[in-house]
Amino acid sequence: MRAEAWLEYAADLGLDPFYRDRARTPPAEAPPSVAAAPRPARNIPEDRPRAAPASPISPPASASLFESTERIEGDNLDRIRQDIGPDCTRCKLCKGRTQIVFGTGNPGAALVFVGEGPGRDEDEQGEPFVGRAGKLLTQMIEAMSLRREDVYICNVVKCRPPENRLPEKDEIATCSPFLLRQLDVIHPKAICCLGSCAAQTLLQTTQGISRFRGEWFDFRGSKLIATYHPAYLLRNPNAKGEVWKDLQKVMAVLGLQPRRR
Ligand code: URA
Repeated sequence: MRAEAWLEYAADLGLDPFYRDRARTPPAEAPPSVAAAPRPARNIPEDRPRAAPASPISPPASASLFESTERIEGDNLDRIRQDIGPDCTRCKLCKGRTQIVFGTGNPGAALVFVGEGPGRDEDEQGEPFVGRAGKLLTQMIEAMSLRREDVYICNVVKCRPPENRLPEKDEIATCSPFLLRQLDVIHPKAICCLGSCAAQTLLQTTQGISRFRGEWFDFRGSKLIATYHPAYLLRNPNAKGEVWKDLQKVMAVLGLQPRRR
């Protein structure tokens, strides 16, 4: 890829402040061509707890909690939303939330982004990723030549954790079956986990995300990849290049070319 074109894509992701200093140096690793096959999907390795940071998710009792969960015949997104109910009180997050944030986007999407849980803006507006991190996610989606409405966006927990704390183990256990049903119904080509909570929940691991981000996994017939959460990128803009590499892998699987301006 020409350095000029790279800088254009980098600007799409808000990477220009990061790359401005390196304007004459093309990126060390050229992005894969769209025709390139993704690295073969594989299952997540055994936990290596020595190096893994503390996690709210315990190691799975079996290989995967979700493997044994059956798909529901004739399920659909409306039914899942109805099953959650208008005023879910299954876990303690119900106490502080304004509204349930179910998910948004294309029910037939080839790509689903899974985040952690609603923040203040999402809790107010009833839609995932509409705050600052959401604006960055929208930029990321658009840099991939997609629109927000082309993809589906949802979270592990559907109610805002107080003070934006991490969702707790019991809250994740209570809410994640609805996420699983959403993913089964949409059955996208690719699932992109945004941050540790989504990745560790779906892969049923306690490993730190930096150990496996950017790698492909099988998830119930979809390809799953994890990357850093946009909120992390707001605090650590230097990680945007790594995320862009991960998104380029997703684009290769979906046969997408980066957006041209
Ligand atoms: N962070 C998330 O993980 N999800 C949202 O919906 C918003 C911010």
